[in-house]
This record gives sequence, structure tokens and C-alpha cells, in this order.
Amino acid sequence: MSKLTELLDILDGIGLEGFKSNDADRLRLVETTKKLLSRVQTKEERLFDITFSQPIVFSALQTLTDLRLWPQWEANRGGPKSVQELSELCTPKCEANLLRRLLRLLASVHIITETSQDHYELTHLPLGDMWQWIQCRTHHWGPGCNNLPSFLAKNGYREPHDTQYTNYMDWCPGKLDFFGKCVADPAYQDSFSGFMTGWARYKVPWPEFYDTKSLVDGADLSNGGALCVDIGGHHGIDLTRLLDKHPDIPAGSLIVQDLPEVLIGAKDMNEKIKAMPHDMFKPQPVKGSRAYYFHAVFHDWPDSVATEILKNVAAVMKKGYSKVLIVDIVLPPTGASDIQSTMDG
Ligand SMILES: C[S@@+](CC[C@H](N)C(=O)[O-])C[C@H]1O[C@@H](n2cnc3c(N)ncnc32)[C@H](O)[C@@H]1O
Repeated sequence: MSKLTELLDILDGIGLEGFKSNDADRLRLVETTKKLLSRVQTKEERLFDITFSQPIVFSALQTLTDLRLWPQWEANRGGPKSVQELSELCTPKCEANLLRRLLRLLASVHIITETSQDHYELTHLPLGDMWQWIQCRTHHWGPGCNNLPSFLAKNGYREPHDTQYTNYMDWCPGKLDFFGKCVADPAYQDSFSGFMTGWARYKVPWPEFYDTKSLVDGADLSNGGALCVDIGGHHGIDLTRLLDKHPDIPAGSLIVQDLPEVLIGAKDMNEKIKAMPHDMFKPQPVKGSRAYYFHAVFHDWPDSVATEILKNVAAVMKKGYSKVLIVDIVLPPTGASDIQSTMDG
């Protein structure tokens, strides 16, 4: 056996299950694999992938999302199915041969597996509730990214700091900004919420890298005081994680604040967490909390606006007691990852 064949066999045998206890190693392998691809693909292959293959693959994913195939297939355990059987799972109906062509495309990029001729298995990408990520691109990221080059040209290639004239407003009918569009259209809110929920689940829970014990131990909750206000907290996943670590935290001392249209979706939140509609650009109603927490909030705003948000919190903090906790992506001076640099949007 040649050295290359041996190496390919080893690589073929590697799977997620081998990395259960070591995510850092898994991420190193992912990065090395991406670098390897960038070295061994020709420029035609690389550009074909970026410019032609990726948009078409995405269109196939959106079409199968529209046909509600993913949840149906998963309800059937995602096991191998014939094209004919899969076409019967679609609503509305889809011609079997059209479906065959879409499935073949997704198998060719290893999103599903072709188990035999005209049979496919849902192995690599069980979407679960994450089909909203696909919808989110169609609603938000897709039109935004298509518009960005012309927006930047119109804007004289200056960094876009003006919140009254954003790229999103430039393409969005009615000139709504991102959160304005979410408020105006529940489907757009749902797809963004689906994205946020899936993304938040992927991240390391904050009590694993922050000493929440000293936060909780040092809190005075005797007169119904607040322990933690999660501002722009979406559906309260970070407060849920705090509760998971400290189940004795009393009810009502954890408060998630967000726009009312967002909190409507926080249906399954632990009942100890209080949902409080609040616009973070208005004065903060919860005074003297032990902590005011922001996760993935400031990366949405230019510094001048972030300062406004923080001033509303500073005005109600108790000296020597309250803390501001910020969890966000910090771009390193060199070697930013693709996740870090794309979030800098
Ligand atoms: C990127 S998300 C982060 C959500 C959550 N903290 C997390 O990390 O999963 C930003 C959040 O800010 C909220 N938001 C936007 N504008 C707001 C405002 N004016 N007042 C309060 N929340 C706002 C959004 O609805 C959204 O839930």
C-alpha cells in the first residue's frame, strides 16, 4: 500500500466520536483540513466551490426545507430511504425525479449519504430544529451579503458605523434595520431566533469559564434584589445555564430582557427566570443588580452605540457590588478564525 493510500485510510476512519473529550484537538483537525484543502485544490476547483457549488447546494437545502423533508425524514430516524419513499415524505409533493437530482447534489457534498442507487441516508447533517438556519440565510444573510459590495461602494468604502443607514436597511423593503425587520415580520424573527438558539447551544456554557460561585455567594438577594439581568438575552439560555450550575438560585432574581416580540418566543424557559420586555436604549428599570450580563450583544453595534447601552446600566449599578459581564468575540491581532472574522460583520 502506498503511503498516500495509508494516510487516506486513516483520514477516512476519523469521526466525531473520536473527539468526545477533546474539542480542541477536533478544532485543530478541522482547521488543518481546511488548510490542506486550500493547498491541494486547484484555483478552478476552489472558485467553482465558492461561486457555483455553494449557492446551488444552499438552494437545494432551502428547497428541501420548503418541502418539510428534514423533520419528516428525522421522524423516520433518518435511515436509508428510496427517492420514491422520500418524495412521499414531502409536503407539498415533489416530483421524484426532481427530488432525485436535489438529493444527488447533497450527497455529492457529503451532506447526506448515498447508500445505494437512489437510496439516501440522513447521516452527516441531522438538522433537528436547525432548519431555521437555512431559512435565516434566505431571510437575512443572503440578501445582506449580495447587497454588501454595492452598499460599500455607495458608502465610499468607509467602515459602516452609521446605524441610521446600514447595509440591511439598504436592501430591505421599507428600509428597516435588522432588528426592525425581525419585529415587523414574525417569520424573520423566527428564523433569526432559530439561528441564535442553535448557535448558543454550540457555545461553551459561561459558568464553565467564569467563576459564577463568587458571583452567587456575593449576592444580597434578601429584599428581592436581582442576581443577574441578561440584557438582549433572547430566550434566556445563559440564565438557564447559570441555574443549571446553581439550582438554588431563588425565583425572580434572574431576569432576561429583550424586545417584546423576541420574548414571546421564550416559551420553554425555566419558570424561575423572569422575562421582562425592555429596550436597552431606554433607562434600565432593574436597579442595583449583582450582575448585568451581555452575551453577543455588543458585536451588533458600533462603539458609540455600545457606550449608550452601557451608560444605561452604569446609571443603576451599585458601587462596589454590581458587575457588568460581557461575553463576546474578541478578534486576535493575528490568526483570526473564520468564525471570529465572519462575526465581525
Ligand atoms: C446576537 S443576539 C444575542 C442573544 C443572546 N444574548 C445570546 O447570546 O444568545 C442580540 C440580541 O439583542 C436583542 N436586541 C436587539 N435590539 C435590542 C434592544 N433595543 N433592546 C433589547 N434587546 C435588543 C435581539 O433581539 C437579540 O436577542
